[in-house]
Amino acid sequence: MSMKVLVVGRYGGEHALAWKLHQSAKVSKIYIAPGNAGTVTIGENIPITSAEDIISWLKINKVDLVLIGSASYLADGLADKIQQLKLPVFGPTKAAAQIEWSKSFAKKFMREEGIPTAAFEIFSDIGQARQYVKNKRFPLVIKADGLAFGLGTVIVKNLEEAELALYDLMVKKIFGRAGEIVIIEEFLEGEEISVHAFCDGENAELFPASQDHKRLLDGDKGPNTGGLGVIAPVPGLSDKLLTEIRGQVILPIMKELKKLGKPFLGVMYPGIMITKNGWRVLEVNVRFGDPEAQCYMRLLKTDLYEIIVACIGGKLDKVKIEWESGSACCVVLAAAGYPSENYKIGVPVFGLERLTKNNHTLLFYSNIKRNNNQLVTSGPRVISVSSTGLTLKEAVSRAYQGIDKIHFDGMYYRKDIGEKALLRLKQI
Ligand code: AMP
Ligand code: GLY
Repeated sequence: MSMKVLVVGRYGGEHALAWKLHQSAKVSKIYIAPGNAGTVTIGENIPITSAEDIISWLKINKVDLVLIGSASYLADGLADKIQQLKLPVFGPTKAAAQIEWSKSFAKKFMREEGIPTAAFEIFSDIGQARQYVKNKRFPLVIKADGLAFGLGTVIVKNLEEAELALYDLMVKKIFGRAGEIVIIEEFLEGEEISVHAFCDGENAELFPASQDHKRLLDGDKGPNTGGLGVIAPVPGLSDKLLTEIRGQVILPIMKELKKLGKPFLGVMYPGIMITKNGWRVLEVNVRFGDPEAQCYMRLLKTDLYEIIVACIGGKLDKVKIEWESGSACCVVLAAAGYPSENYKIGVPVFGLERLTKNNHTLLFYSNIKRNNNQLVTSGPRVISVSSTGLTLKEAVSRAYQGIDKIHFDGMYYRKDIGEKALLRLKQI
């Protein structure tokens, strides 16, 4: 077989997905729209970004599969439009993706289905939201209803911060219409994990659990980011916990969506907080996490193309999905100033060529472009170093050894990715 695949997206997660598909004996050509300066080494970048342009391109260029990486395209209904072309597409329809693009929908859905999640209220009126926070104990969590690059969730420690967050979202509209509705919820304390599952509409196959590090600063302090580093698998989790999340979150959501006429095809990724009172769902995503995918693709042994084709055919139970027995660690290098809007771009990046070709350490590009002969930064999360190892300790130390070779002005990264897990394993 020599299949052609289009991967839609531009960041490190999609780079990792394209990298993995490139290894499939069944795939002969990969297009990435729009791709980035890293994906050019894997396939052909197609410089288009809008759903309309992608559809027009697909009408002229024959591909056998489209893989949609990012939530914004799914929220725009790109999967529906590709289905109308009668092309195989991996990623849920707009209706099924609502569980990610509307947090108020997700929260109400979880409440109705009895899925454990933080206690919450929903507001579209800022006066009522202000009144509500006046009588609450802090910290509290305030979330934009819509998509906001992973930055629409603010943990507020007092009334002043709550007022500011509400003002930013609902009046200043820093995330546009995404903040017209807000969710105010109970702050959950505990350890966060990312659970992912391949879903074929009926059946779900769990990945090993992973752990993203969302806060900006070491020790899980500072503001939320889109994610600054991941390890997988998470050591010490019980099978019982993962079985519960499959049986009490992923399967019921799929079943209910199907009943509502919105069958779910793609990857479902609930973020989970393990609290002292049990686990709670923080949110439900409808795609591979990023940077999670940058670890998962390093550990997935089975051909990703085969898994995706099985999902699309409703035959997930017919493939045996295997994972490497070692660990992976991915550390994100960000521009100083992130996650605020005040980060510099156009900063030259040095040393990437110093990461010698080996099997354990790879770079996945997010916001780097080529300016003449120089690679420069082009956005907030710039590039990641993704390493594997026989042990978690080995994977983590290889990732940091890789980082030592890279430099750009203002380069920021967390120094403690994987540390919590290593402490638990007593590997440090
Ligand atoms: P979300 O956009 O809902 O995934 O939230 C982004 C991040 O904020 C999560 O990955 C958590 O780290 C944190 N978070 C979200 N909801 C809560 C909560 N109720 N309590 C504590 N932290 C939360
Ligand atoms: N790991 C964060 C996200 O993909 O939403």
